[in-house]
Amino acid sequence: MTSSPEPSSRPAEPPVRRRDTRLDNYVDRYAVRTHGMTASAIRALFAVANRPEVVSLAGGMPNITDLPLDVVGSSLQRLVLDDGRVAMQYGSGQGEPMLREAICEVMGLEGIAAHPDDVTVTVGSQQGLDLVTRLFCDPGDVVLCEAPSYVGALGVFRAYQCEVRHVGMDAEGLSPQALREALEVLRQQGKRVKFLYTIPSFHNPAGVTQSEQRRREILAIAREADLLLIEDNPYGLLGFDHEPLPTLRSLDSELVIYLGTFSKTFAPGFRIGWVLAPHAVREKLVLAQESATLCPPVFSQFAVAAYLRDHDWRGQIKVFREMYRERRDAMIAGLADHLPAGCTWNTPAGGFFVWVGLPAGLDAQAMLPRAVTARVAYVPGTAFYTDGFGSRFMRLSYCYPTPERIIEGTRRLGEVLNREAALHETFGTVGPADPAGPALPYQAPRPNQS
Ligand SMILES: Cc1ncc(COP(=O)(O)O)c(C=O)c1O
Repeated sequence: MTSSPEPSSRPAEPPVRRRDTRLDNYVDRYAVRTHGMTASAIRALFAVANRPEVVSLAGGMPNITDLPLDVVGSSLQRLVLDDGRVAMQYGSGQGEPMLREAICEVMGLEGIAAHPDDVTVTVGSQQGLDLVTRLFCDPGDVVLCEAPSYVGALGVFRAYQCEVRHVGMDAEGLSPQALREALEVLRQQGKRVKFLYTIPSFHNPAGVTQSEQRRREILAIAREADLLLIEDNPYGLLGFDHEPLPTLRSLDSELVIYLGTFSKTFAPGFRIGWVLAPHAVREKLVLAQESATLCPPVFSQFAVAAYLRDHDWRGQIKVFREMYRERRDAMIAGLADHLPAGCTWNTPAGGFFVWVGLPAGLDAQAMLPRAVTARVAYVPGTAFYTDGFGSRFMRLSYCYPTPERIIEGTRRLGEVLNREAALHETFGTVGPADPAGPALPYQAPRPNQS
């Protein structure tokens, strides 16, 4: 009988070398939908912005420093020992029933009365967005979204070859008047809108929140126009000042498809989100989920359910809120102390982001390499539009760095902006003062503009 050689006695294989080439031999095989797939400004930035010497006000990573890892750890240990063989098995395409029940309890905090049967668990709310777009949009279909809008949603709409039309916002979020106008233009063009994608609470990136009155107005327009709404609500429980406002879904269960997530209220690494949809849509969602993943990750679902069962998750959300409020305060104080005249910003009442407007003549995208050289990073406003608008804006996030680092970041940013402004003054390229400030109305490019 021959014995197989000891692994150590095998001649060592040469290490596999990465073949790094920019030549793409597959270029004529890709589907047309890949043409719109480009790395976002945020993604390209991460490589430099994550260097320790850079204060990154760019990324939107939830700050999970305050999560009690001992509690989560013992909960996970118990999960493996008691239920491991089920939790590590395939599961239901719709998601585990006990988690869907818990999700209904979470949504109850924002006034939503829902049945677990109408919930589909997804791989983060990002996959919820993907599945919903897959269900409703053919190439060329029109999708409305705010101006600016969440960069990850724009990526999904691009991947499904949708035509995105931005709708202006003001200090109370999506403008009803701008929505009416957009619908009218589309009616005249004979185009049907598949849905309006909106982030009513603590908007990413604009930082604003729709008042209750505003929500009712938007719903009234939607009913009139038979417009489907996709409500994306990752930050709704992270408000600093008052109880959550009623969600659009709590005010209308037929016209609203609701996206939720545990990424900001627990931890993003489990990748658990959900879609709450009217029954007929939910049935299609489950079929789409099955073809995409067979089932959402079962172990993560058990882990989230165990966390909700074993831990004071409501208390933990309060801890997160206080931590983010302290960071928001640091950012607003830093901006007031360091940004030059002519810059404008809002004070978000929750969530992660501040939207900063620059004096006319300054360009946030052109300035970014100089900012990174000065060891501060942000996301230029153009990342949040599909049509090139936004160069006079930037998104700053306060969620991750410590308050001290946030203040230091705003100091560095102030220096960069002051230098840019002085340069523009020298060359006479500064535009007139802009009284409209951050509520500068969105101007869609005219059809003959690129
Ligand atoms: C508005 C918005 N929607 C969706 C997501 C995706 O969240 P996740 O897929 O982690 O649930 C994010 C993440 O930053 C977001 O800001």
